[in-house]
Amino acid sequence: MSAPSLFDALQQQPADALLSLIGLYRDDPRAQKLDLGVGVYRDETGATPVLRAVKAAEARLLETQGSKSYLGPEGDIRYAELLQPIVFGRTLAADQLAGVQTPGGTGALRLAADLIAAARPGAKVWLGTPTWPNHAPIMKAAGLTVATYRYYDQATQTVLFDEMMAALSGAAAGDVVLLHGCCHNPAGADLTPDQWRAVAEVVAARGLIPLVDLAYQGLGDGLEQDAAGARLVLDSVPDALLAYSCDKNFGLYRERVGALYAKAATPARTELMRSNILSLARANWSMPPDHGAALVRVILEDAALTADWRAELTVMRTRINQVRQALAAGDSALAFLGRQHGMFSLLPLSAEQVGVLRRDHAVYMAGSGRVNLAGLTLATVPQFIDSLRAVR
Ligand SMILES: Cc1ncc(COP(=O)(O)O)c(C=O)c1O
Repeated sequence: MSAPSLFDALQQQPADALLSLIGLYRDDPRAQKLDLGVGVYRDETGATPVLRAVKAAEARLLETQGSKSYLGPEGDIRYAELLQPIVFGRTLAADQLAGVQTPGGTGALRLAADLIAAARPGAKVWLGTPTWPNHAPIMKAAGLTVATYRYYDQATQTVLFDEMMAALSGAAAGDVVLLHGCCHNPAGADLTPDQWRAVAEVVAARGLIPLVDLAYQGLGDGLEQDAAGARLVLDSVPDALLAYSCDKNFGLYRERVGALYAKAATPARTELMRSNILSLARANWSMPPDHGAALVRVILEDAALTADWRAELTVMRTRINQVRQALAAGDSALAFLGRQHGMFSLLPLSAEQVGVLRRDHAVYMAGSGRVNLAGLTLATVPQFIDSLRAVR
């Protein structure tokens, strides 16, 4: 018998269900199997390829990079600057906006949470449910208090906007509101422009702090359209945070490319936020990994590479939207998919139906009924519709 250890007190944690789905799918011998589980873009052949623009940037970086010496906790600052016109529609002055590179959108969210906790330990963060399953753990890990309201009704495929507005109208000044910028994960249901305006008004009127999570810009309606709601909210308040991810729209997933932007009303407050962000980043990861952000910088510094990236992003977005339209046209019960955005949607299925789809039809999806529509092609849409009809 070994001696008692500090670590005996740890509780076993559940395995990530979506990741275990990968193994089940891989081991399934059925040729017609469909993988609608893990949330990465797939092309017509089911691959998640490295983008042409990324390959070209990698070749250029290999040629030109002269040092791998340390950067600072802010990472590649030029990268964060070059992204600004894409995210905000313009470049803001350094005394209006602090921007730092982070390890993915996840790192940006964690850094935002740490900044909020440094300002007010235990501050309340409002999350609409359902949401990305990592949102609450990230906020709680920083010691924040999570409060929820119902955002989306899976059974009727409706955004519960009245419930959202009621929750925000009852929130206290200084509470944080986490908003999906576009391509809601998991629901696929975004706010309309009018709803964004109403949210911006209530956030401003009540002195709430928006934390926009923009992880799929360009995969919904287009780069500009997908940022419109976020820009509206950010422009309506003195202080705001935006957590960005380049991992999906540049296909850089495992390179972990993100950014945190903090907007403040005064130059002094911008500086205060920047200095706190940098010291928190230093305590978390010292400095972010360089490679992926350097690739995005190389692309955005070059007009031809930027144009090629935009073209590749358009191909991804168009493919996702074609699959959405084919599903909506193929089955009236799926008409809602044609009105939604991005790769994800929550189908009104029970966990049991999801199990039958896997067992009898080789359709793999999360137990919640979330599907990654990029796992389908126009050729497999009819098979998927038939499978859904069989379990209804
Ligand atoms: C809504 C949302 N926010 C943030 C992230 C984090 O992205 P990253 O892989 O860049 O950390 C994800 C990833 O799935 C996401 O779905």
